Amino acid sequence: MVRVEQASRPLRGALEVPGDKSIGHRAVILGALARGETRIHNMSAGADNSSTVSAFRRMGVAFRREDGALCIEGRGWDGLQAPRETIDCGNSGTTMRLLAGVLAGRPFAVTLDGDDSLRTRPMKRVTEPLTRMGARMSDREGCAPLDIHGGALHGIEYASPVASAQVKSAVLLAGLQARGETRFEEPYRSRDHSEIMIRGFGARLESIGPAVVVPGAQELTGTRLTVPGDISSAAFLAVAAATIPGSDVTVRGVGCNATRSGVIEVLRAMGADIELTGRREEAGEPVADIRVRGATLTGTEVAPELAPRTIDEYPVLFVAAVLAQGTTLFRDVGELRFKESDRIATMGRELSKMGARVEVRGDDVAIEGGGSLDAASVESHGDHRVAMALSVAGLSAAGGIRLAGENCVKVSFPGFFESLEKLRG
Ligand code: S3P
Repeated sequence: MVRVEQASRPLRGALEVPGDKSIGHRAVILGALARGETRIHNMSAGADNSSTVSAFRRMGVAFRREDGALCIEGRGWDGLQAPRETIDCGNSGTTMRLLAGVLAGRPFAVTLDGDDSLRTRPMKRVTEPLTRMGARMSDREGCAPLDIHGGALHGIEYASPVASAQVKSAVLLAGLQARGETRFEEPYRSRDHSEIMIRGFGARLESIGPAVVVPGAQELTGTRLTVPGDISSAAFLAVAAATIPGSDVTVRGVGCNATRSGVIEVLRAMGADIELTGRREEAGEPVADIRVRGATLTGTEVAPELAPRTIDEYPVLFVAAVLAQGTTLFRDVGELRFKESDRIATMGRELSKMGARVEVRGDDVAIEGGGSLDAASVESHGDHRVAMALSVAGLSAAGGIRLAGENCVKVSFPGFFESLEKLRG
């Protein structure tokens, strides 16, 4: 249990957030499958990324720390060995789904499992295309544990019913090992970190609008890269600054890939004062310093197309909506039900305890802003982003909040509470 007190003065300061979780997973996976050394700088110490590292350790890949970098001695696709035990993916959906794509093509049997939350999340979306490529996999009513008997794969043309970077990445990782070409298409373009990084490891791949085509039987070559700061973590600090009058906060070195930065678009549409400076590139990804100053926010309509590039930021955007003037309508956000918790239900329930008016209309969420937030005892439901979003709400609640289950913030943002303290001064 932690207390988050109401902010008695504006938030101020400049700070960094841990390395991007999505990019970190991909760097470890590709580094483990490449030939030669990979050095990853600014790798997050978050629990999700650690789940990916320990999965590859169990399959015989050697990692070491050197001068602050995570170094991987890659021995190519065939360097991967059958693990002796079930691989525990912890809370990490990305670990499980991307590993399914890797292991679909490896000539051994593996079981992937995870914690209670991960065991409830849909896996058919990856096992379906991977099975079509020739992999043998079984699940438990569409969920983990997944038993995978990898082997020879062939390329497919696959139109995914969901826009999902995890599904896309699983198919691309299998496609790199397959005979022939693989084409993946999705309803809207999801984050393209895998595409950028596969190229960075020397493999060929072509993006054509919302479709990606990858030739099969490709080798990867080890590389050096620096992981940009995680925009999904920066989003909590950005909303905190945007909603507390007089605040002036800069988060340095944040990844601003256009397929991920919907949170900036939505906050700007709500009237937030956000400035991006010092634009540069790291690991093929655009990076900038993000400066946010407190402003009066107004409600907006968040279109369905924004969902793939905003997906992890909806919980904290719900908080921005509660604190804005007028109504905000988040359209077509049904995918939130399949995250670390059912984020429509958990955020709705917990924000309501603070007096917020959240209405669920099918797959849309309407939030009536302008209300003041009350003191309350709330809980994270074991979901890191719910924990952090509620903490941001707590900063604006008269009397603050008591938050149970706050430990899960370590999944993506170890040091989150310390960062908030730093900004409070
Ligand atoms: C992720 C993709 C998103 C996101 C998740 C990380 C990734 O999931 O919600 O936190 O690293 O590819 P989906 O691809 O299932 O939408």
